[in-house]
This record gives sequence, structure tokens and C-alpha cells, in this order.
Amino acid sequence: MTDIASLERELTERIAAAGDEPALESLRVAALGKKGSVSELLKTLGGLSPDERKIQGPLINGLRDRVAEAIATRKTALEAGALDARLAQERVDVTLPAPEIVRGTIHPVSQVQSEVTLILADLGFAVAEGPDVESDDYNFTRLNMPADHPARQMHDTFYMKPQADGTRSLLRTHTSPVQVRTMLSQKPPIRIIAPGRTYRCDSDATHSPMFHQVEGLVIDEHTHLGYLKWVLEELCKAFFEVPNVGMRFRPSHFPFTEPSLEVDIQCDRSGAQIKFGEGKDWLEIAGAGMVHPRVLEMCGVDPEIYQGFAFGMGIDRLAMLKYGIPDLRPFFDSDVRWLRHYGFGAFDAPSIDGGLSR
Ligand code: PHE
Repeated sequence: MTDIASLERELTERIAAAGDEPALESLRVAALGKKGSVSELLKTLGGLSPDERKIQGPLINGLRDRVAEAIATRKTALEAGALDARLAQERVDVTLPAPEIVRGTIHPVSQVQSEVTLILADLGFAVAEGPDVESDDYNFTRLNMPADHPARQMHDTFYMKPQADGTRSLLRTHTSPVQVRTMLSQKPPIRIIAPGRTYRCDSDATHSPMFHQVEGLVIDEHTHLGYLKWVLEELCKAFFEVPNVGMRFRPSHFPFTEPSLEVDIQCDRSGAQIKFGEGKDWLEIAGAGMVHPRVLEMCGVDPEIYQGFAFGMGIDRLAMLKYGIPDLRPFFDSDVRWLRHYGFGAFDAPSIDGGLSR
């Protein structure tokens, strides 16, 4: 007859030495499985006399219980060990620098749009938006350009197919329709900027059929050209990061402003790089003026009580000037080499006190 005590000793030693879960499982089968050593012992109980069974029964059953328990305890220990090993292997050192696979950059247009928005938000302007596909009414008519107005021709408009009622949607040719939308939906005082995409059928080194503008609009009871001048001066100083910038306001004409003006900034183009705020040259950067009383009226604002100013400038052009980018066309080619060269790091978000560009 098998010596129960020596079988138990042998099994206990082998269980303790099992190195992993599969090894432990085959031990379990060898001891407690159908043909396992302990199971075979249990089977012998049937052939014993009642007296012998009374002695052998508890011994063999006790053996089975202790072996099963030893296996369960070892199993728990092996599982915990395996988890610890995996955690150690998959350990990540979060203090290491990020791998060199971050390739995306912020496009100069996005960068300049954030810079301008940030400066004007700091001056108290809220951001307003309008759709790229605009109605003829908002893009032209309510901006004092009725159907037969000659200024419409200057906009090289992309029109949609006419609808059943004869009206035609279009791709907005400027951000000025956001002025209309804002006046129709908000009560003065109004102080908004509207950056976004604009479209004109035009394409060369300095014109792209899709480009970007930022519109500004202020409506209240007292505002005047002096405020407009101050806002544009503050914007230019902050944007070009210079303490002073000479500005020139030339009389001009837009159907939706009266008086209208064009804004130039002083610069020096004699060297290889253009310098702002000094020198003998001038660069046009914005169209502006006092909102025409007819426009106020058509947008539900009483011109007897309210007045306001508006300005519009090209974001792409500002980007070319500030970052010395000579040609506009590659802005929209999505060439990764260009993007890598002119793009900005995703973590270099502009901020008023941290500096706009770094
Ligand atoms: N919308 C004009 C343009 O695109 C610019 C402008 C805006 C002029 C606001 C005056 C006032 O040319």
C-alpha cells in the first residue's frame, strides 16, 4: 500500500516548486485528476473492510483536501507573481522626453488667426461666426450693395445654382455678412470679431480662391473713428511685437461704410527682411470705416441712436508679412516640407504675456 505520508510529502514539495501555472495544472491532473495518484488511492477504499475503511477513509480524504488546498494557495501566489512581472516589464518612465514622432505643426494661418483673436479678445471683443455658404442678401444687399450695384463685380463671386424662387446662395466674398448676422441677432452695444474663410474667383502669387479674413464690428451710441484708430494701432503693435507703429489712414470707398478708409502701416523694405514700425515704406493691411446708416437700418439698428465702426483684414496676408512667407499658393498645397518649415509647434500656443510667437 502506498505510504500516504510520503506521497503527501512528495506532492507538497513538487507543488511548492511549480514554476508557472501550466506546470501546476499538470501536477493537479497527476494528483487529483481521474487517474491521479490521490484519486487512485481513494478508489482503493471500496475494496476495504468497514473497519479498515474507518481508519483509511479520513486519512486519504484528508490527504486529498490538503493537496487541493496547497495547489490553490500556490496558484494564487503564481498569479500575483505573473502580474508583478508584467507590470515591471510594461513599466513606462513618464519623465523621459516624448519620442521624435510628433510631426504635426500648426499652420501659419491658424497661428495668425489665434494671435489676432487673442489680441482683440483682450481688448474686449467676442468672437462671432457665420457660414461659408451665404445668402446674396447678407453678403451684398444688406451691406448696401443692391442687385445692380457696380461694386458687386469687384468681388469675383462664386455663385450656387439659383433656387426655385430665383435667389442664389454664394460663397461669402468677405466676412462682412457676419456684421449683418450679428446686428440682426444682438442688441447694441456690439463688440465682435469674425475670423473665417472667404472666397473669390482669383488666383496668383498673392491671391487664392479661398482665403481668410477677420472682421471687426463695434456698435454703440458714442463710438467714433478715434476708437477705430486706437483699436487698429493696439492690434498692430501687439501683432508685430513692436513698441510703436506708424499708421496711415487713407480715404477710400466701401458701399457699407461712410466714411471709408484704407489702413497702411509703416515699414522698411530696404533690407533683406521687412521691418515694421520704422522706415519709409507703407503696406496696406485693412479696409475700415464707420458703418453706413443704410446698413444699420437694413440690419434693424436705429441710425438715429446708434453708430459704429467696422474693419476687415486678410489673415493670410498678415501671416505672409509677419513670418516672411513670399508666396500665398503653397499655403494651401499641404506640402509637408513647407508645413514643417513654416508651421508652429502645437505647444507654442500664443499668449498675451508669454509672447505671441516664439
Ligand atoms: N469687407 C471688405 C473687403 O473684403 C473689408 C472691410 C470690412 C471694409 C469692414 C470696411 C469695413 O474688402
